[in-house]
Amino acid sequence: MNYEDIKQNRLYDEFAHLWNLISNPQDYALEAAFWKKALRDKLGPGRHEILELGVGGGHNLSHLKNEFRATAVDISDKMLDNSRRLNPEVEHLVGDMRSVRLGRIFRAVIIHDAINYMLTEDDLHAALRTAAEHLDPGGVFVTSPDYTTETFTDGVVRHGSCADENTRLVHIEYEFDPDPDDTTYEYLMIYLIREKGQLRIEHDRHVTGLFREARWLELIEDAGFEVEKYAYDVHDDKRQSYLFVGVKK
Ligand SMILES: C[S@@+](CC[C@H](N)C(=O)[O-])C[C@H]1O[C@@H](n2cnc3c(N)ncnc32)[C@H](O)[C@@H]1O
Repeated sequence: MNYEDIKQNRLYDEFAHLWNLISNPQDYALEAAFWKKALRDKLGPGRHEILELGVGGGHNLSHLKNEFRATAVDISDKMLDNSRRLNPEVEHLVGDMRSVRLGRIFRAVIIHDAINYMLTEDDLHAALRTAAEHLDPGGVFVTSPDYTTETFTDGVVRHGSCADENTRLVHIEYEFDPDPDDTTYEYLMIYLIREKGQLRIEHDRHVTGLFREARWLELIEDAGFEVEKYAYDVHDDKRQSYLFVGVKK
């Protein structure tokens, strides 16, 4: 099989039902605490209205929804179904973070790890404009890429295994950068899926964005925000990462 022929983002489509096996909402408690603190720091007390773009299965949001009134957008209706089950009190809407316009203003817009799917500066700029369009001056934007160019390590392998009553799953992930001169890296997922006694092997390719930290800050400023970095010490490998926190000018 040619690597280039592997279909992309199958986890968010035909394998969306595996999301809750691969990822456990409880594992997001530490991350969510940093997001909550940044939002509280900028917004103060109150059950403010927030918008999450690229909510996925809503695992991070499940820790924020009791503090804030949330609306959630994702490009995948199947991933939204996962979040709808976990967060039934949240309004869920299909949309692309680069172009969606809800015609409503929020106190904050957050983009958790879905921001990784912005592959070019044009993509990033479009997503940042979407955030700005849903905020008044003083409104808050928070995001955090998994890696910046400075923190990325080529060739990392991760794996896990999990099961529910129907499915036993082993997943292997290989992160690598085929072209260090462009603004993307990739990860290949291999799924060993055992259902009804049968083993299937499936591949899934994810192409994700990689930008220098200084460029992130410039692009967020260019979209109309004053931006700060908040330490975000959540990764097992102890790499230094940040929440980028913007206040709309
Ligand atoms: C890793 S998942 C997010 C998981 C989420 N942080 C959670 O806590 O469950 C990434 C999500 O980004 C979404 N996504 C990718 N590109 C998008 C886009 N252009 N607009 C909106 N959502 C997008 C995918 O459909 C997927 O659901």
